[in-house]
Amino acid sequence: MLVLGIESSCDETSVSVVRDGREILSNVISSQIDIHKLYGGVVPEIASRNHVKNIIGVYEEALKEARVTIDDINAIAVTYGAGLLGALIVGVNFAKTLSFITGKPLIAVNHIEGHIAGNYLTYKQLEPPFVCLIVSGGHTALVKMEDYVTRKLIGTTLDDAIGEAFDKVARECGLNYPGGPNVQKMAQMGEAKIHFIKAPQKKNDFNFSYSGLKTAVINYLHNAKQRGEKVNISDVCASFQEEATDQVAIKAVNACLKSGLKKLVISGGVSANLCLRNKLDRLAKEKGIEVFYPELKLCTDNAAMIASAGYYNYLAKKNVVDPKELKPTSVIPL
Ligand code: KG4
Ligand code: ZN
Repeated sequence: MLVLGIESSCDETSVSVVRDGREILSNVISSQIDIHKLYGGVVPEIASRNHVKNIIGVYEEALKEARVTIDDINAIAVTYGAGLLGALIVGVNFAKTLSFITGKPLIAVNHIEGHIAGNYLTYKQLEPPFVCLIVSGGHTALVKMEDYVTRKLIGTTLDDAIGEAFDKVARECGLNYPGGPNVQKMAQMGEAKIHFIKAPQKKNDFNFSYSGLKTAVINYLHNAKQRGEKVNISDVCASFQEEATDQVAIKAVNACLKSGLKKLVISGGVSANLCLRNKLDRLAKEKGIEVFYPELKLCTDNAAMIASAGYYNYLAKKNVVDPKELKPTSVIPL
C-alpha cells in the first residue's frame, strides 16, 4: 500500500511516498531554516506564505522521485495538528483538495504520532509495545505505545518543552536558530562545570520541568554581564545540555523499569542530540533496555513519518476522515 504523506506544521514543507508504512520511496523536505534564522525563530506568517509557495513543487518532486503518479497512491495522510495554525492550514487544505478530487481516503495524523513512527522507518522490525520518549520543540513527554495507534500518557512537561529550552538558551547565548544543534556544537568545545539547577530525581515522578533550568541559565548570563565578567559560552552550553538531558534520560529509563518494557523509543527533534543519545545508551544498557532513535534526517519534521503513522491508522480504521470535515488544530492533548 502506498501512502502519500504531507507535513506543514512548522517551518518544513514536506511530501513523501511510503510503502507499507516502512519503506521510503521519497521524502522531499523544503526547509525554511535560512529564512527564519534572520529573525531568531519561526515567524508564523512567513512560514505559512512559504508553505503556499512551495507545496505544489514539493508534491511534484515527491511523486517524481518515488517514480509514481497520484493514481498509484492508495491513501493520503496529513498532519492536522499540533502546530502553527496558519502553517497547518496549507498542508491540510492541499490534502483535502487532493482527497476530494481523487476520491482517495484521507487520514488525519497527529504530528507527535508521526514523530514516533519515524522509528518504524528506521527499524523495520520494531513493533509496539514500547515506552516512547518524545523530545521536540513543542513537547517533552513519556508515553506507552500499547499498539500502533493506542498510547497512554506516562508523564509530560509542567512548563516548557525541552527543545524550546534549547532554542531559548541558544538565543540568550547569541547562537543562531535552530538553537538545539548550535548548543550541541558549542557544548562539544566546553565543559559541563556550571551547576545551574541540579534537581533531585524522584523515582516515580515522570513529569518534566524546563522553565527553572532555562531561567537559571538566563540569570547566570545576565548577572555575568552586569558584573562585566566574561562568560565561557561553550561551558554554559555544555552545562545546560548536561542538565537538560539528565532529566529526560533518567526518567525514560525509570519509566521502562516501572512498566516492565525493555524497549525505549526516542522521537522528536531533540532525539538528534548526541549527548542525550550517549547518556541514554549508557543508562539503558546498565538496565538491559534496548534504545531506538530515528536516523538523523528523520528526527526533525518530515512527511515520511506522517505517511507511516497514516498507514497504521488506516489499517486500524482510525482517523480516516471526510475531506470536507477535516480542520487543522493548533493544540492536541497527547
Ligand atoms: O520535532 P521538531 O523538528 O519540531 C517540533 O515538532 O517541535 O523539533 C525541533 C526542536 C527544536 O527545538 C530544535 O532546536 C531541536 O528540536 N533540536 C535539537 C537538536 N536538533 C534539533 N536539540 C538539541 N540537539 C540537537 N542536535
Ligand atoms: Zn516535529
